Amino acid sequence: MSRNPKLDARAREILIGNDRGGYTVPTHGLYPFQWNWDSAFVALGFATFDHDRAWAEIETLVSAQWEDGMIPHIVFHQDDEGYFPGPRVWGTGRTPPTSGITQPPVLATIVRKLWEVEGADPACPRMQRLYRACLASHRWFHTYRDPLGNGLVMVTHNWETGRDNSSEWDDALARVDTSGVGSYQRRDTGHVDATMRPRQEEYDRYVAILQFGRASGWNHRTIADEGPFRMVDVGMSMELLRANRDLLVLAEALGETAAAQELRARIALSEHGMDWLWNEEASAYCSRDATTHESSGLVTNASFLAFYAGVGSAEQRARLIEALERISGSATYLLPSLEAESRAYDHRRYWRGPVWLVVSYMAAIGLDEQGYPQWAARIREDSARLIEKSGFYESFSPETGEGSGGPDFSWTAAMWLAWCGR
Ligand code: DGY
Repeated sequence: MSRNPKLDARAREILIGNDRGGYTVPTHGLYPFQWNWDSAFVALGFATFDHDRAWAEIETLVSAQWEDGMIPHIVFHQDDEGYFPGPRVWGTGRTPPTSGITQPPVLATIVRKLWEVEGADPACPRMQRLYRACLASHRWFHTYRDPLGNGLVMVTHNWETGRDNSSEWDDALARVDTSGVGSYQRRDTGHVDATMRPRQEEYDRYVAILQFGRASGWNHRTIADEGPFRMVDVGMSMELLRANRDLLVLAEALGETAAAQELRARIALSEHGMDWLWNEEASAYCSRDATTHESSGLVTNASFLAFYAGVGSAEQRARLIEALERISGSATYLLPSLEAESRAYDHRRYWRGPVWLVVSYMAAIGLDEQGYPQWAARIREDSARLIEKSGFYESFSPETGEGSGGPDFSWTAAMWLAWCGR
């Protein structure tokens, strides 16, 4: 049942308007290429009215997968001077041009969903091809991004997390040397209000990390071992665990016994390893530095993906729910990307407070599955109210509900169609 047919129509219009032929830009102007996890969520939106187009979105993305298994975070299908850093800055030498880093591994979870909507036939050729692409990508994470061997995910650029500017990265970023960065021109602040975007000194660090990767010839081993930024991200660790569970369902359907065995072992390792991220004082799972082993101690929306990943003892879950209760006391709209009490909190600035519906969606799915339907319903209702109040923005203030970042955002439209507007 639709909650608001006019908004359904508008959401479809946004997806169709942002479609560049087989792939969708996140928003016009600010993000003019194909982004990895954006495309995954966008496929869920297309699946509500054009199933073929939903599969195509993901197929276009994985057509740019690297031989080592990495699915890049941006695919530059065409040039656009309105974005920095563009394909020449990344210099990966790939066709089509891509960035040299990855993004949250949510693809297998979404492929499973599309396949189930089709009737879950193991002979489905589109599922089979994407199953293999996801397996190769998960193996890439296991090979290059698990330096501690505990089944968690280390990121080598904050852009990989998708939560670009979260204060979880501040301490690690502060150690990045920016003396050789040189001059460049940012483009993002030409599209949206600078007070909603990362600050200049932060951007310099993002560019310095990129330059390290480029200087290594995008050697993923060198980057993982010696890169200037090495964080174990709570969000991607939870997302990969969830994605491994979903990939296992596909492997079993296909009778891929050896791969299924491999995935079961990875799942067990991650379930056990996740406790390394538990921060007793914060009463939550928090990102942790892979070099210094320092915990960020910050409760972000990603901390609540524990339910989505299906981890935590009864006591840990109860403490996470207490944190959710506390946060709901200060936020008019759940789920803020950072707690209002945190020193870096800013209800309008990129990933330091605003609500992002894709994270809310994953958190709500997990809460529902793990026996907290009332919290799942609250997050879903707040998400719908944000769109009803402000439209299809990239993100929203958890205090006022005002939209922030780019307008007419593809994944926000997709979340309306596939989740909170239903
Ligand atoms: C940006 O340019 O801000 C993007 O989020 C990087 O992925």
